[in-house]
Amino acid sequence: MTALLSASALDAFYGDFQALFGIDFELKAGEAVAVIGANGAGKSTLLKSLAGLVRNHANAIRLGGRPIGDAPAARVVRLGLALVPEGRQLFPSLSVEENLLIGAYGGERTAPWDLAAVYRMFPVLHERRRGAVTVLSGGQQQMVAIGRALMSNPTVLLCDEISLGLAPIVVEDIYRMLPQIRDNGTAVVVVEQDIARALRATDRFYCLQEGRVTLQGASHGVDRDAIHAAYFGT
Ligand SMILES: Nc1ncnc2c1ncn2[C@@H]1O[C@H](COP(=O)(O)OP(=O)(O)O)[C@@H](O)[C@H]1O
Ligand SMILES: [Mg+2]
Repeated sequence: MTALLSASALDAFYGDFQALFGIDFELKAGEAVAVIGANGAGKSTLLKSLAGLVRNHANAIRLGGRPIGDAPAARVVRLGLALVPEGRQLFPSLSVEENLLIGAYGGERTAPWDLAAVYRMFPVLHERRRGAVTVLSGGQQQMVAIGRALMSNPTVLLCDEISLGLAPIVVEDIYRMLPQIRDNGTAVVVVEQDIARALRATDRFYCLQEGRVTLQGASHGVDRDAIHAAYFGT
C-alpha cells in the first residue's frame, strides 16, 4: 500500500541551525506511528514540518501523493492533516466550545467529527462547554486540544506530547480514545517521551536522535537494548 503521508530526505532549519537531517518517514492510512526520542531530538520539528509550520521544498513531504512541503499550515489542515501542538496552545479568552469550533476548518472531509461527536468522546467537555478553558484541568485542556484538531476531520492527526505533565490515570484516559479516532478513518502520529506508552499505542515507531532516524520498526517485540542505544546514543 502506498503511504498516506511521507517525508523523504527531509531536512529542517531554524535560520542557520539544522534540526533535521535527511528524515525518511511514512504513515499508511489507518496506521498509528510513534516518534520517540530525547529532549531536543527533533520530534516537534518533524511534526511541525509535516504540518506546514516549518517550511520545506514541495516534494520533501507528500500527503495522498500531493506535494505539500511548501504549503502553508492553513492549507495543510484543509488537505487533511491536523496537529495537536506541544503545550496545547488553547485560546485562553475563549470558552471550551469556541476553542473547539476554531478547529472546524472547511476541510475536504466533513464527517464524522463535529461538536456532538467530540462531546460523545469527551462528555466532560460538554458539561463545561460554556466555561473558560483556563479553569479546566490539564487533562481536560488536552481533550479540548485533541477535539479542536479532530473538528477539521483530518485523515492524519499529529499529537505532540499529549501526556506531558498529566497524571498517569489521566494519560490512560487520553490514550483510550486513540482506537476510536483510528476507527473513524484517521491515521495517528504520536510524539512521546514515554517510550513504553508510545510503543503500546502504535503499530510502528521511529526513534530520533539529534535530528536523525536512529531506529525504526514494529512497535511490538522491539529489543530494549536497541531502543536504548537509538534513544541515548550509548
Ligand atoms: N524555534 C526554534 N529556533 C531555533 N532552534 C529551535 C527552535 N525550535 C527547536 N529548535 C532546536 O531544534 C532542535 C530540535 O528541537 P525539537 O524539534 O523541539 O525537539 P524535541 O521536540 O524532540 O524535543 C533542538 O536543538 C532545539 O533547540
Ligand atoms: Mg518537542
